[in-house]
Amino acid sequence: MTSVDSTAAYIETVYRKMATALAIVRQRLARPLTYTEKILYGHLDAPAETELEAGRYIKTRPDRVALQDATAQMAILQFMLAGKDEAAVPVTIHCDHLIRAHRGAGPDLSLARNENREVYDFLTSASQRYGFGCWLPGAGIIHQVILERYAFPGLMMLGTDSHTPNAGGLGAFASGVGGADAVDVMVGMPWEVLHPHIVGVHLKGRLHGWTAPKDIILRLLAVLTCAGGTNRVFEYFGDGVESISATGKSTICNMGAELGATTSLFPFDRRMQLYLQSCGRREAAELAGQHADLLRADPEVLADPTRYFAEVIEIDLDALEPHVVGPHSPDRATTVSGMAAHVAAGGYPEKVSYAMIGSCTNSSYEDMEKIAAMAGQLADRGLRLKTPLLITPGSEQVRATIERDGQLARLEAVGATVLANACGPCIGQWNREGLEKGTKNSIITSYNRNFPKRNDGNPETCCFIASPETCLAYAIHGDFSRDPYTTEIKAADGSTFRLNPPQAVHEVPEAGFVRDVAGFLAPLENGGRTEIKIRPESERLAILDPFPPWSGADFRNLRLLLKARGKCTTDHISPAGPWLRFRGHLDNISNNIFNGAVNAFTGEAGKAVNGINGEIQPYNEIARAYKTAGESWVAVGDTNYGEGSSREHAAMSPRHMGGLAVITRSFARIHETNLKKQGILPLTFTRPEDYDLVQDGDRIDLLGLTELAPGSTVRLVLHHRDGSISDSVLNHSLNAEQIAWFKAGSALNFLRRA
Ligand code: F3S
Repeated sequence: MTSVDSTAAYIETVYRKMATALAIVRQRLARPLTYTEKILYGHLDAPAETELEAGRYIKTRPDRVALQDATAQMAILQFMLAGKDEAAVPVTIHCDHLIRAHRGAGPDLSLARNENREVYDFLTSASQRYGFGCWLPGAGIIHQVILERYAFPGLMMLGTDSHTPNAGGLGAFASGVGGADAVDVMVGMPWEVLHPHIVGVHLKGRLHGWTAPKDIILRLLAVLTCAGGTNRVFEYFGDGVESISATGKSTICNMGAELGATTSLFPFDRRMQLYLQSCGRREAAELAGQHADLLRADPEVLADPTRYFAEVIEIDLDALEPHVVGPHSPDRATTVSGMAAHVAAGGYPEKVSYAMIGSCTNSSYEDMEKIAAMAGQLADRGLRLKTPLLITPGSEQVRATIERDGQLARLEAVGATVLANACGPCIGQWNREGLEKGTKNSIITSYNRNFPKRNDGNPETCCFIASPETCLAYAIHGDFSRDPYTTEIKAADGSTFRLNPPQAVHEVPEAGFVRDVAGFLAPLENGGRTEIKIRPESERLAILDPFPPWSGADFRNLRLLLKARGKCTTDHISPAGPWLRFRGHLDNISNNIFNGAVNAFTGEAGKAVNGINGEIQPYNEIARAYKTAGESWVAVGDTNYGEGSSREHAAMSPRHMGGLAVITRSFARIHETNLKKQGILPLTFTRPEDYDLVQDGDRIDLLGLTELAPGSTVRLVLHHRDGSISDSVLNHSLNAEQIAWFKAGSALNFLRRA
């Protein structure tokens, strides 16, 4: 059962598990370990035999799972299919993504509770039924609540949200995953992950002046670009590390997601202890101190980092300047001193139409202290902000504390509006008024993403990202045409002044944080009988039916639904956007199936000829027609089929709509595994050129299924419309366990039976 925070007993169990596994691995490897390796290897499923090499898949046993309310819906529906009474690890649900920002915290929360009532009812009843902890709307943003309550050095966790690595600021190995991976861990299966390359980031010197932790990650994005972190973990070290607060470290780890990294993390230090103590988690701080050797890289690694890290990147904090990135990509970087020229060269609007500070990335007590001090400098001269400012606190703990300590009042006094403790404008949930869609304008945020439409749905909004201090400085000046840190400001009395970097800032409150437990719905002692609430007529939620088991016979006379040409990512198979509203309703969301896939016969996306009536129709209509007629189908794909996000719907929808197999030249590995989990056969042409044998209107036999075994092949027979036949041999990569999933109809069916 999940408690309101990580208990001492639980943390001790994690450290014991790590120590035992590491003893085995150290004996095998006989070399010093990085901190990342200590956590990763300390959580191996089979430490005695797992091959430990970057680029290989390894099976691990994470300690906990966090779900945000948008992705939680399908994850929990799948968990229910496994027939378990409780999850294998502690699970929390966080109601943060569905709250729209409009009129301010109070009215926005009431509206969200109404609009999303059925989703919240489902999530809360499921959490009571299965012993999950549930943080209700208004309690806070998933990553901030995790930091405050559950993260600790050495923890390994998964979250169904990209910015889960935020917990790396407290020394956790925290990865953002799709629902399928989260469900695996919830039902007691291991988490399979590509062993990452471990990059050491050496921080030298100290932050000073206006430079903030955010500028470190913006600098790294400038150097490495958005693709620079794929299959990499960024482990920070060096004398600069201790000069950054735990929440500053979290900001850096949070935005490691923009590099595409598996995760980012900092080693345990006194700043983490200070934060844990301030959150009322004294025992966690002490336990980490007692196990400090487990929670840092070995000294030999730090003495010779280039030998033990795959790569070492140096950042000199003494020389680092405040940065701004954007618009439309977080790696389009400039410095504050270069911003005016950047804006002029790009033709972006100079006027700052909105500034936003907060979100999961930058809403710490320290951040709020700094910007409240800047607001104080303004108010002292009788001035207000020139740009409207929205504040999105990361949690009720932060909001209530800055209310108690006066920062909130100082920000409101210069014109700030405080929104609900939720994602809001960070995830496009901003009901923006006063600007017609399509109007070009510039905004600045301390958030983490800035691709077009991310905040207000307007593709013409140019979003720039910077530290909270830099955002506020621009909100004070109102435009990007001058350096806000060096330009004089005219006070109400006609005198002039410059902003001064805030001094003597508290990174945590002297009186400790206001602990909010009102937002936590604790699991019931006897929750097992709780009824899970889903309205039968709901269009957003529906209980999943188990997929049927394999009939035991070869597949014969299947329809060809799709032959895709070129790129076919999970976004082509199951597009997001407006469809996300139906993510808890498999039948409704399946109306998007293959909407983006390019028909190899026509070059058109999303459409083909319906083999029953001869009409050109969207794939979802054709698949439904085949299903209604009792016919099953196959999809054929090109290379790297299913690349992109690990969205589980891209495997579930084809299965739900009657798909039995997907045949490709090659698969993206995660999607291939997701297909196996849903009971779909992923097959590849032994001869890639046999892809060309597939013709429009083919009927398909897949033979040899009764002898399916690891390493066996499957015979493909294509019956063409002209009466001719083509033959091909297909490979599969199913192991014995995965073959059992196929026979049972899905991995969850198999688990339920086991
Ligand atoms: Fe994601 Fe919410 Fe943060 S949308 S980026 S978790 S504020």
